[in-house]
Amino acid sequence: MTAIHVLGLTKRYDELTAVDDVTLDVGVGEFVGVLGPNGAGKTTLLEMIEGLRRPDAGTVEVLGEAVWPRNPRLQPRIGVQLQASSFFERLTAREQIRTFASLYGVGAATADGWLERVGLGDKADTRVEALSGGQAQRLSIACALVHDPELVFLDEPTAALDPQARRNLWDLLSSINDSGRTVVLTTHYMDEAEILCDRVAVMDHGRILQFDTPAALVRGLDAPTRITVAPGALTAAQAGAIAGVGEVGEGPDGVVLVTREPAAVLGALAAGQHLDGVTVQTGTLEDVFLALTGREYRA
Ligand SMILES: Nc1ncnc2c1ncn2[C@@H]1O[C@H](COP(=O)(O)OP(=O)(O)OP(=O)(O)O)[C@@H](O)[C@H]1O
Ligand SMILES: [Mg+2]
Repeated sequence: MTAIHVLGLTKRYDELTAVDDVTLDVGVGEFVGVLGPNGAGKTTLLEMIEGLRRPDAGTVEVLGEAVWPRNPRLQPRIGVQLQASSFFERLTAREQIRTFASLYGVGAATADGWLERVGLGDKADTRVEALSGGQAQRLSIACALVHDPELVFLDEPTAALDPQARRNLWDLLSSINDSGRTVVLTTHYMDEAEILCDRVAVMDHGRILQFDTPAALVRGLDAPTRITVAPGALTAAQAGAIAGVGEVGEGPDGVVLVTREPAAVLGALAAGQHLDGVTVQTGTLEDVFLALTGREYRA
């Protein structure tokens, strides 16, 4: 079964086409990331899939149901964390999550448990206005997850988080996904997408440029491997003589061998007892992202 089925989805704001004829499917149990520069259309796309913004063209089906007009059967089955957190005013963190929970018939104990799971146990009595940016973000994630939805949408969930909270959230989202939940998130962190996501959609100017596994995207880039040998181990001339080595450079960290045959080159280095201190750098998702979307600033 597909969790999300999107066909020809388009959203225009006057002259601007924010989402331009997007078609995609997400399977049940998948963990999908949407990457793209500022203004690429990620939030607009997600909010149409969530049934919060009305498309100008195209259709969306979520868990076998149409999302527009607002479909009450879907509400308990999906969890949504918006890019801009919104809370009930003047409530404490505990009152906040208990209120969300009660909307779905979820008890207070479960709600309080979610505060602990996102590390906000000792902020339970703090009013939401007094939470830090990252604390508020964690609360809004907990509110999106409190009713154990089948399908979760998170719009830049780790944008304001410190490194500890970011990794804790990765564990939390992985465990939710391992239990069969479908997760869709947007992020500007390439490492996050690479570690968490089964598939990644790279978006720009309202279109999906590529949608594949991180490994397949990196392979498709066909970037050479850079092997750096510790200083003094090998001269540039010796490095250039190894079969399979293309360019040779000399950097502060040693001699750099650029190759499209890393296995052969590493084999030769091993045979010559030159493997100590060697580092190997291949293409990354960030290289893919920059190759697809370019380097210029967006508005
Ligand atoms: N309500 C709106 N009215 C007019 N233009 C809008 C509206 N919402 C979004 N846009 C425009 O649509 C484009 C896509 O915006 P969107 O918020 O979807 O981008 P994004 O990929 O989520 O960016 P970011 O990484 O900054 O969150 C932008 O150019 C934005 O200015
Ligand atoms: Mg956005």
